[in-house]
Amino acid sequence: MRILITGVSGQIGTNLALRCLAEGHEVYGIDLRANSWTTLIRQSHCDLTHPCASTTLAQLLTSWGTPDIVVHLAAHAKVHQLVLEAHKALENIAMTQHILEYCRIQNVPIIFSSSREVYGNVYRPETSEKDADFTQITSAYAASKLSGEALVYSYARCYELPYIVFRLSNVYGRFDNDLKRMERVIPLFIQNIQHDKSLKVFGSNKVLDFTYIDDCIDGIMLGIDCLVTGRVRNETINLARSEGHTLNQLCLHLTKTLNIEVEIEDLPMQTVAVYHYVANLKRARELLGFAPKVSLPEGLHKAIIWSHEHLGKNHIRS
Ligand SMILES: NC(=O)c1ccc[n+]([C@@H]2O[C@H](COP(=O)([O-])OP(=O)(O)OC[C@H]3O[C@@H](n4cnc5c(N)ncnc54)[C@H](O)[C@@H]3O)[C@@H](O)[C@H]2O)c1
Repeated sequence: MRILITGVSGQIGTNLALRCLAEGHEVYGIDLRANSWTTLIRQSHCDLTHPCASTTLAQLLTSWGTPDIVVHLAAHAKVHQLVLEAHKALENIAMTQHILEYCRIQNVPIIFSSSREVYGNVYRPETSEKDADFTQITSAYAASKLSGEALVYSYARCYELPYIVFRLSNVYGRFDNDLKRMERVIPLFIQNIQHDKSLKVFGSNKVLDFTYIDDCIDGIMLGIDCLVTGRVRNETINLARSEGHTLNQLCLHLTKTLNIEVEIEDLPMQTVAVYHYVANLKRARELLGFAPKVSLPEGLHKAIIWSHEHLGKNHIRS
């Protein structure tokens, strides 16, 4: 299969591209940045916010050919970055529209990476896909994801463009610790514990559904297969572990695994943050046969091992 991945230098993009290559697929990646983890992925530099991005993409891919599917991951992917720079929400929406236009012209199905942020700050024991409500949106990032979804749905109805929307949740592990570019809670805590720094926890009772990277990639791979073969079409699906853990529990798992005691500073939760999310995975199970395999303690163990191995190597800087 020929798979075009946008945002291929990012955490999920790098993992997905390497998995696709390992399974014998052809991969072409697009990103603003060079990949700082690997040179194995064929990719081109392209700013997807540019109004001519869909034409540029078609030109870049002339010799490679038309993909069988596009996985659109490129975005400003950090909630708090968009609190400070809300205009970047518009860039997320522009990228999605340009990719949809490329898909429409080339007649290629699309997988869009949305987020559990679209569910807003509403307590539910478990959250199902029908629970998304644009009136509950708490951040410009979440608005950009819901707007991206709306564009995807409009292209499906207007132009019969097939899609799967995945709503992802706190993906961690392998290729996520470029902390200068983007702070993510698990690699940040691992690094701070290793440097004997206290952990600043904004809302220690906040409950989140942490997804180990390989489970996330398994879900996307199932989605690629189901969408290309036509077995699943035009569905919005939660991808996560479906287990809630407080940030406090996360800290305890990490300090136990690393066997280092550090002080935990319990700070008030940031207002835009979602305080309780556990995904209902019924649709993922029924439509894709998705079954996450990695529990949080196992995933943290793997993430710590990767982090140690990775720090021992010189990773290629862009
Ligand atoms: N990682 C998570 O926990 C998580 C959770 C929910 C949703 N998501 C979504 O999944 C997708 C991938 O997430 P990630 O964690 O790999 O993020 P990431 O930031 O690691 O990767 C995103 C990539 O998009 C690229 N990009 C940004 N602007 C671009 C532009 N104008 N043109 C081309 N490329 C551009 C960045 O350079 C980056 O490499 C994102 O859309 C994100 O919003 C991620």
